[in-house]
Amino acid sequence: MAKESATKRKYPWTTKVGDEKVTLRLMQPEDKDAMLEFARSLPEEDLLFLAIDITKEQAVDDWIRRLKEKILHTILVEKDGKLVGHGSLFHEEQVWTRHLGGMILLLSREVRGMGLGHLLAGELFAHANDIGLRKVMARMASSQKGAISVFQKLGFKMEALLADCVIDRNDRTHDLIMMSHDVTGFNV
Ligand SMILES: CC(C)(COP(=O)(O)OP(=O)(O)OC[C@H]1O[C@@H](n2cnc3c(N)ncnc32)[C@H](O)[C@@H]1OP(=O)(O)O)[C@@H](O)C(=O)NCCC(=O)NCCS
Repeated sequence: MAKESATKRKYPWTTKVGDEKVTLRLMQPEDKDAMLEFARSLPEEDLLFLAIDITKEQAVDDWIRRLKEKILHTILVEKDGKLVGHGSLFHEEQVWTRHLGGMILLLSREVRGMGLGHLLAGELFAHANDIGLRKVMARMASSQKGAISVFQKLGFKMEALLADCVIDRNDRTHDLIMMSHDVTGFNV
């Protein structure tokens, strides 16, 4: 089960990524509206493969419940006081996969390609280590070529391809790619 650690990161903190100043902070229940606004501002192609449809109020309520239960850890990214993305780590609930976490990264287009994905992943790996996880998984559709390249560059390895295991918003099925990275050895 999860263990507390004395090495926990302190938030919020502000840094420069590319030419942009961004603030990283932990998501709180009060961020519900900001999360909905962020998700609803994303273009249709970014919404096609959301594992959790955070454009829907009920999904964000459920997200917040998981935050409170500490089975989900979400780091928000703000630029000029506006939410521009998040990195999240789900702690697997079943006993036999309790050493696994699941990572989700989602950034608005204006802040992609500047190193923020890598920065968020580093923060989430530090948290995974703090709570005693051993492996982090990332799942995406096989058609999400950009995301697959990003995770490969982050050091994730391809684990499996599951035929037709993802269905998009338009009810089209796609193959699901599962990638993984050991918690130790993430290159920050
Ligand atoms: C995935 C995502 C978070 C990446 O964030 P990002 O800030 O653009 O990524 P970074 O700038 O930190 O780039 C990380 C690495 O991937 C590379 N990369 C970034 N975008 C890439 C792309 N579209 N194709 C190939 N490589 C890419 C970078 O060059 C960098 O490699 P390097 O370390 O060798 O320089 C962002 O693209 C996104 O929000 N995508 C939509 C949601 C999604 O698909 N999430 C993944 C499933 S959870």
